[in-house]
Amino acid sequence: MTVLDVRELRTTFQTREGAACAVDGVSFTLERGRVLGLVGESGSGKSVTSLSLMRLLPRGVRVEGQALLNGVDLVTAADAELRRLRGGEIAMIFQDPTTSLNPVYTVGWQLEEMIRLHNDIPRAQVRERARDMLGAVGIAQPATRLDDYPHQFSGGMRQRVMIAMALANNPSVLIADEPTTALDVTTQAQILVLLRRLRAEFDSAIMLITHDLGVVAEICDDVAVMYGGRIVERAPVDEIFESPRHPYTWGLLDSMPSRATSGRLRSIPGTPPSLTELPGGCRFHPRCPVAMDKCRTEPPALRPEGDDGGHLDACHLPAERKRAHGQGLASAPAVSR
Ligand SMILES: Nc1ncnc2c1ncn2[C@@H]1O[C@H](COP(=O)(O)OP(=O)(O)O)[C@@H](O)[C@H]1O
Ligand code: SF4
Ligand SMILES: [Mg+2]
Repeated sequence: MTVLDVRELRTTFQTREGAACAVDGVSFTLERGRVLGLVGESGSGKSVTSLSLMRLLPRGVRVEGQALLNGVDLVTAADAELRRLRGGEIAMIFQDPTTSLNPVYTVGWQLEEMIRLHNDIPRAQVRERARDMLGAVGIAQPATRLDDYPHQFSGGMRQRVMIAMALANNPSVLIADEPTTALDVTTQAQILVLLRRLRAEFDSAIMLITHDLGVVAEICDDVAVMYGGRIVERAPVDEIFESPRHPYTWGLLDSMPSRATSGRLRSIPGTPPSLTELPGGCRFHPRCPVAMDKCRTEPPALRPEGDDGGHLDACHLPAERKRAHGQGLASAPAVSR
């Protein structure tokens, strides 16, 4: 079931060099109980997409298009409605938990405040729910830990607290922006296991933003690949790894440690485009190893190949070329689930 339907989302900053369109006509849906991975190099517009949906960008930033959350358009919703939705129907976890936890209040107080804000229930019940949430995210002795301050938790534990806060009101949509990037590898793995478990338990739709395709293989059901503010490929996770069609996706996969065929990690040559000097045609053409003449002038539309409506890509290459390359890649990383 679709819980968030994003259509032609477009976000424009005013900069000294002119208008900068960081998100340029992005469309996707989030489905109940499924995880969509939003991937792409740094600067491709992943965070701006999520901040646009949460309406957390500074005033003056133009956001256009539609984002229907259970029928309510987040792009045009009034402030009062947004306050009701944020932390209730839609919640977000950031990369750095210290920025969203207040150091002067106990973790319990902050968690309870989040629950109180959205539910008219007695104090004792709020406390109970807060304790249960801490327990659910794997914090030992949750009843006692409610009285601790954020600095008394380790980085990984603080991220668990953030996840507890985000899920406290059982949101339809959870957006997690690089939730494990700041953590060490072991803690990272634990948080991923936790997210996977919670997805099943809470049945939220999750949008997981990451630049790490290993994380995607671990937890995502669907993948959207972003480049220069646009989605260039979107498919179920197995399709992305087994038959990627877009040359940018090929590059991302080639730069994955577990897939590097030569034992040496390859990164995509060149750098992502500047927002104020975006190349015409296909935005990837200056870096694309197989660019053709028309790539410089005609922007490719995101569309299915034939009748496979579940796998979309935005590239002018003929279908056979996309297929041939996809099959030439090493096999996908082991997906443990
Ligand atoms: N407040 C801002 N003003 C101008 N440009 C911004 C602002 N925030 C982000 N950008 C630009 O938007 C683009 C996308 O950024 P972002 O969504 O953060 O990328 P990422 O995919 O790494 O999350 C980048 O080029 C960034 O410089
Ligand atoms: S449209 Fe052209 S430049 Fe863009 S990815 Fe496809 S082949 Fe490369
Ligand atoms: Mg980001």
